[in-house]
Amino acid sequence: MYAFEPDPNQPKAELYADLVSAARALTDGERDGVANMANVAALLWQFLPRLNWAGFYRTVGADELVPGKLVTGELVLGPFIGKPACIRIPFGQGVCGAAAASGATQLVPDVHAFPGHIACDADSRSELVVPVLRAGRVIAVIDLDSPEPARFDAEDAAGIEALAAAVANAI
Ligand code: SME
Repeated sequence: MYAFEPDPNQPKAELYADLVSAARALTDGERDGVANMANVAALLWQFLPRLNWAGFYRTVGADELVPGKLVTGELVLGPFIGKPACIRIPFGQGVCGAAAASGATQLVPDVHAFPGHIACDADSRSELVVPVLRAGRVIAVIDLDSPEPARFDAEDAAGIEALAAAVANAI
């Protein structure tokens, strides 16, 4: 049994430090990427309030994908918590595709104002997508959706970027 007891009222920096520690503890010594992504998705859901979707898309067919350079390939749905979602997203499309193609975090306070946003859950109002880079290549993205407008800020982005770096070799 793994018992983590996040306090959603603690400062965000502490909450994310605890989240990263929990993710390291859960993935340490485990080589199965699917298992590790599944547990990290569960941690995101447990630690972060006011989400309606949390999980991974993986880059497939993208051995040469480097930030800013588009090649043939797509994102494919990985482990997540939330409603069933779009399975395949071409690079450059939607918020996730933009993160994968650019290698840059996408902080979207209003998904309806994001050109090409892909609505997987009609409840989503804001979104944060962070690329996971390994050896300079985007291997996946972490996607968080919230039913609350402007749910995510720069501290959330920094926290999820730290998480992405912590798990990049485990997924
Ligand atoms: N909204 C995302 C699609 C994935 S779902 O939110 C789970 C996008 O525009 O890329």
